[in-house]
Parts: sequence; structure tokens; C-alpha cells
Amino acid sequence: MTLINNDITAASSLLSQGHLVAIPTETVYGMGANAFNSEAVKSIFAVKNRPFYDPLIIHTSSADRIAEWGMEIPEQLLALTKRFWPGPLTVLINKSERVSDIVTAGLPRVAVRIPNHPLTLSMLVQCDFPVAAPSANPFGYVSPTSAEHVKKHFDGKISMILNGGPCSVGIESTIVGVEQGKVVVYRLGGISVEDIEKEVGKVLVQTSSSKPDAPGMLIKHYSPAKRVLAVDTQIELNAHINATSAFIVFNFEVNDVASKNIIRLSSSENHAEAAQAFYSALRHWDDDASIQNIIVQRMPDFGLGRAINDRLSRAIA
Ligand code: TXA
Ligand code: MG
Repeated sequence: MTLINNDITAASSLLSQGHLVAIPTETVYGMGANAFNSEAVKSIFAVKNRPFYDPLIIHTSSADRIAEWGMEIPEQLLALTKRFWPGPLTVLINKSERVSDIVTAGLPRVAVRIPNHPLTLSMLVQCDFPVAAPSANPFGYVSPTSAEHVKKHFDGKISMILNGGPCSVGIESTIVGVEQGKVVVYRLGGISVEDIEKEVGKVLVQTSSSKPDAPGMLIKHYSPAKRVLAVDTQIELNAHINATSAFIVFNFEVNDVASKNIIRLSSSENHAEAAQAFYSALRHWDDDASIQNIIVQRMPDFGLGRAINDRLSRAIA
């Protein structure tokens, strides 16, 4: 049986005993395990059907703890962690021996994040170990932004889902690291490149790689079972109007379609609001048996729109 509630003491003690607990964060729900316990970490890969070459992010409640565990944040990233933690920023830092090699897929660096979710932050304070947590979806599928999304695939398969309500950011963290003294963005996410550059100046964005040893991302990912199509113009969208298509739009019009088949990501054309609603919209149409195609308007390519477009491209790949 999978417990679903907001009991942080139950969650931290299950984690310390090596069990799997799904945890809410502001970005997406994570599939958590004690990162110092190899067997527990292995079970994350098993339950998600995730290949061992895809490394995990570890989560904790404070930068002091990271230092206590013998890991140091590179100087070039300190302005970012100071500004954006707790928050949707993940940094790659040299790993300490205590972190299981399974977490990092054998890589020398480990991905670390302090999430900005009140329930999970208080839970992490109770954990004297980092919590490894990839998104709590079956490998390759759309990430979960609510406890219900996690329940759909993992009910009965994990010990607990800590229910912290819907995720406020709705898209994964931005991953950064340092190469040859320069800040590199490996995954676009909840903090825009523009906001990162305000802190550290021009950065290198290096996100499209199918090489598993290259941090960042697999080309095909975040993918619903239904056919997803991206449209760049109103005319293109109009060409796809039919009874078995559903629409996810930002500011395009959808005429002659039942309103129940349209999701508008943000009525005020706000990128953050659109990011928050995006995965949930994909899952909604994927679960609707009357729909065959999901037609998605590509976002204006800046701010969080750029991260949404990245996920959209991978959902289609
Ligand atoms: O917002 C998030 O980051 C969410 C929440 C739960 O924190 N987590 C998340 O984890 O998105 P996941 O497993 O779905 O994505 C982790 C990705 C890996 O696929 C890889 O691209 C990158 O982080 N990564 C992790 N460790 C790495 C490492 N040592 N070197 C390079 N890339 C790494
Ligand atoms: Mg994921």
C-alpha cells in the first residue's frame, strides 16, 4: 500500500530506512531515496524503468549541509546559489565519496539542489542524508506536477507520496555547471537563461545532446503516448482543426472547436503561468480517450518560453 498524506516525519523515517517516497517540489514531484544508500537508489531506477546511465539530482535543505558532507560549490556558481536557492536551480559539483556512484552514473560530478517547497524543505531538515530524486514519472514520460500524477503510475509500488499539492513552477530545474572557468547551462528550466545571465554574465547553453555522459538531456523525453504536434503559426494551427484533436495554446485562437478540447496555458500570456500548466495539459489530453492528436502552440522563445519549447521538442522527437 502507498501512503498518501503530508506527514513529513513518516516521509523522512521511511527514506532513512531505505524506502522510496515521492516528494513534492516547486518544479515537479521527485521519486526520492536516501542518496547514501546504494540499494535504495537502485530501486529508483527499477521503479521508473530508468537506465543506469542517466544520473540523479540530490536534494537537501541547506548549503551548510552540502559542505558538511564534503562537497564544495564552485566559486563561479556561488552568485547563482545565493540568489536562487532554495529554488529551481541545480548545480553540478564534485561529488563526495559518500554519494553512491549509482547516483551520478559514475560521473565525477553530482547534481545538487535545494528545492523551494515548504513541506519538502521541512522534511529535508529531518534527513541527515541527501535525498536523490529524479522526476517521479516512468522513464521518458511526462513529468508529474501533482500527487495524483504520481499516484497514477506508482500507487502500490512505492512506500509513500508526500502530498504537497500542485507544483508552483511546473517545469524542472535549470541545471548549471562550470567548464574551463565558464558557467554552462546544461538543461533549460525553471530559472530563465536571462535571469542567470543577470547574475553571472553571458553563459554557454549546451543542452542538446543524446550522449548519456553529457549532462543535460536525452533527445526523446517528456513524451505522451499520443501524437504531439507543435505549431508555429495561426495558419498551421487552423490546418489541424478536427474532432479528434485537442489544443494547448498560449495566445493563438482556436475556432470551431468545442471549448472542452482547448487548454489555454495562461489567459494573461504569462510565461511562468504557462510553465506551471504545461505538463498537466499534456497529461490531460493523453488520458482522454476521445483525443488522438495533441496540437501545441510553440511559445515565444525567451524566458521560460524557451524551456517549455525545449520540452515540447523532446515530447515530439
Ligand atoms: O526540478 C528538478 O530538477 C526535478 C526535481 C524532482 O528536483 N528533478 C529532475 O530530475 O528533473 P531528473 O532525473 O528527471 O533529471 C535529472 C537530470 C538527468 O537526466 C541529467 O540530465 C542531469 O539531471 N544530471 C544529473 N546528474 C548529473 C551529473 N552528474 N552530470 C550531468 N548531468 C546530470
Ligand atoms: Mg525526469
